Amino acid sequence: MHNDIDLKAAINAISDVVQNRPRPLREFDQIYMKSGDMVMQSEFVSRWADGKSLAFIGDGDAISVCTAYLSAKGILPTGPSRIVVYDFDERIVSAVKRFADQERLQNLDAVLYNCLDAFPDLGAFDCVYTNPPWGASNGGESVKVFLQRGIEALRRPGEGLVVIADDPDLDWPKQVLHRVQWFGLEHGFYVSRMMPRLHSYHLDDAPELRSCNLMFSSLPGSVPALRSEEIRDPDQLKHFYGRSASARVRYVRERKRVDYGRANTSEYEFELLEEE
Ligand SMILES: C[S@@+](CC[C@H](N)C(=O)[O-])C[C@H]1O[C@@H](n2cnc3c(N)ncnc32)[C@H](O)[C@@H]1O
Repeated sequence: MHNDIDLKAAINAISDVVQNRPRPLREFDQIYMKSGDMVMQSEFVSRWADGKSLAFIGDGDAISVCTAYLSAKGILPTGPSRIVVYDFDERIVSAVKRFADQERLQNLDAVLYNCLDAFPDLGAFDCVYTNPPWGASNGGESVKVFLQRGIEALRRPGEGLVVIADDPDLDWPKQVLHRVQWFGLEHGFYVSRMMPRLHSYHLDDAPELRSCNLMFSSLPGSVPALRSEEIRDPDQLKHFYGRSASARVRYVRERKRVDYGRANTSEYEFELLEEE
C-alpha cells in the first residue's frame, strides 16, 4: 500500500460507493466485501492495472467503481485507463453507470451480460478481475465459467485476478483453488502471484471465511480466444450458486425507483405520538 495515501479521504470515497450499491441478493452469491478491504483491494488493483484496460466479470462489490473514483479524485496516483463491468444484474449495471455519470468518471462503463452467454468483446482488455460464486457445491465449476469469460476478454499479454475462498481449516476451498489453477494452466496461463486470506465479507453464516487474490499471467506465445460460445451444459449449471441453486436466471431486472438511496416505504411504518 502507498504510504502517502490519505486514509480519511479514501474511506469517505469508499463510503460514497457503498451508499450507491444495491442490496445484495444472497441467492446469487452476492455477498459484499467489507469496506476496509475495499480500500486495500482498490489500491492494489489501481497499481496492478495502472494505464491498462480492465474488465470485471461480475462486480457486486464495486471494486471497479472504487478504483475509478479513488484514482479520478487523486486519492490514488495510479489507475486503469478504461474499466468495463459485465454483470447480469441490471441494478448493479445501473448503479455503476449512475455513479460514473454523477462523478464524471468517463473511463468507467457497465454492460448487462450473463457469463453463460458468449462473451461479446473478445480480446479487448489487458487485465481482467473476477470475484465469482466460489463454487463450494460444484467443485469450482462456477469459478471456471467466470474465469473462462475473463480469459476470452484478454488480449496477450494479459493478466487475470480471481478472488476466491481461501481457508486453511476447510477442504472445499483447497479443492476449488486446485481446480481453478489447473484450468488456468490448461488455457495458456501460469499463476504469477497468490495473496492468501486477504478479504472479509458481510457473510452472516461464515463470518471468518476469507478470500485470496489468485493472479494469472499469460504464457509467452499464448494466443487470444478466437470465439466464445454459450454454456448450457446442465452439469455446469447445477449447484452454480450453491447446493440445489442452479443457474436459471438470464438477467436480474431492475424495478425503477425515483427514491434511490433512501429507505423503501415497505421497510417501515410510523407509530404516531398520542394526540391530546
Ligand atoms: C456472484 S457475486 C460473488 C461475491 C462478490 N463478493 C459480490 O458480491 O460481488 C459476483 C457478481 O457476479 C454477478 N453474477 C452472478 N451470476 C452472474 C452471471 N451468470 N453472469 C454475470 N454476472 C453474474 C453478481 O451479480 C455479482 O455482482
